[in-house]
Amino acid sequence: MSKRKKIALIGAGNIGGELAALCCSKQLGDVVLLDIPDKADFARGKALDLEQDGAVRGLDACVTGTSSWDDCTGADVVIVTAGIPRKPGQSRDDLIAVNVPIIREVADNAARSCPEAFFIVISNPLDVMVHEMQSRGGFPKNKVVGMAGVLDAARFQLFIARAACVSVKDVRAMVLGGHGDDMVPIVSATTVNGVPVAQLLDAATIRAIVLRTRNGGAEVLRLMGTSAYYAPASSAIAMAEAYLLDQKRLLPCSAFLGGEYGYRDLCMGVPVVIGAGGVERIVEIPLTDEEKAMLKRSAESVRAVVSTAAQSPYRASPSGFLR
Ligand code: APR
Repeated sequence: MSKRKKIALIGAGNIGGELAALCCSKQLGDVVLLDIPDKADFARGKALDLEQDGAVRGLDACVTGTSSWDDCTGADVVIVTAGIPRKPGQSRDDLIAVNVPIIREVADNAARSCPEAFFIVISNPLDVMVHEMQSRGGFPKNKVVGMAGVLDAARFQLFIARAACVSVKDVRAMVLGGHGDDMVPIVSATTVNGVPVAQLLDAATIRAIVLRTRNGGAEVLRLMGTSAYYAPASSAIAMAEAYLLDQKRLLPCSAFLGGEYGYRDLCMGVPVVIGAGGVERIVEIPLTDEEKAMLKRSAESVRAVVSTAAQSPYRASPSGFLR
């Protein structure tokens, strides 16, 4: 029996496949790629391709493709991409009707197979899916997070680096709030190795970058016809590594708020410290009045989608896949 960590990837599509490849490359542990029964062979094929890739590269991780939750038993980390991605012209919220029943089904199965895991949700609409995963599965609130802020901040950092002609390595940025059109890039906390971004770029350029960041997902979607997958996968792996290696990284993630920033019973993007304890703490940073107002607007949008989702009846996912 392997003593390696076990990482279960729920959804073996574009992001799931890239997540599996990164887990293998970084030797984070053995990987289970789970999809619906109709796509079990597809998941098995991807797993086999990755194991053969490992043989070329000298990587020992076992990759299992499956549609059985029994294979996820005892997983240390579960990353959820199950669901459908956006099509051009759709907002993330348009996915509620299909993806909410799917996340509920995932939560039920995960609660039986791997209740002790650290859960990272990627499926959209993100903040609502995190909320549903935690409440439906009954998992501890510090063990369920959503991946969005790392990706949104990376997009913001990239655009700043290109405009300011500096290395992307040196740009540090925070994007908070819901993972939607009114996410809040925190300009006041954005620096190039400590130098405030406002010293390097004029206000109009920063405004344009904020806008492009908010539309960062839609821009890729329009070009590719499906949502991004390389950067989302890398972002979630940064969070998984922080947990598995107890790195105590401070990352913007969608987390369950219990009064921080003035909000409770709501999941949205805030700076959190991720270590072996999961979300070890939520960090409150000072915001300008304008940023607070934007965060309020973003929180209201998330709440509206949460209440729409709450009215969504539980029914089998479109695949009819229930354990
Ligand atoms: N259990 C397991 N897998 C499922 C289930 C389920 N109940 N329902 C659907 N899936 C699988 C699909 O069969 C598909 O293979 O989830 C996979 C999703 O893969 P893609 O369609 O390639 O989508 P991807 O680009 O990976 O995005 C997944 O992440 O960023 C978000 O908006 C995006 O919600 C979308 C999710």
